[in-house]
Amino acid sequence: MINITVNGQRHDIDADPNMPLLWVIRDILGLTGTKFGCGAAQCGACTVHLNGEAVRSCVTKLSRAAGQKIVTIEGLSLHNNHPLQLAWNEMNVPQCGYCQSGQLMSAAVLLRENPNPTDQDIDDAMSGNICRCGTYQRIRAAIHKVAAMQTEGAKL
Ligand code: FES
Ligand code: FES
Repeated sequence: MINITVNGQRHDIDADPNMPLLWVIRDILGLTGTKFGCGAAQCGACTVHLNGEAVRSCVTKLSRAAGQKIVTIEGLSLHNNHPLQLAWNEMNVPQCGYCQSGQLMSAAVLLRENPNPTDQDIDDAMSGNICRCGTYQRIRAAIHKVAAMQTEGAKL
């Protein structure tokens, strides 16, 4: 049994310690907001937070998450109202949407670490998140919008 905490809830997982965390999240816990894209740490669709850091859950073993805190897109905010989610909606960022959970989880870490990123900072931080629909310009604009809101005193 491996104990993990996901979105504030503790779970005892009876599975192979080598199982990718993504399988645990999606298939065992039923949290399907986190997506499978490449399975090889190349696309970012499976990005979650492990103790506050963005990780690729497709290549993160369950054993690495033992006793740790994981946040998935379902836990990013209480009512889908994280400032990034609000900006994503307002600016119609998603196209097909498949990559967007991962984009949001990476953007959340970026803004926590760098509240006022430049275009280059954003491109560097988000370069591991691929969008086949090419929504990069809107992602960048939405991150800038939230950064501006933060500067004006809104709480992330
Ligand atoms: S599915 Fe994990 S990086 Fe692509
Ligand atoms: S919105 Fe379609 S892959 Fe990004």
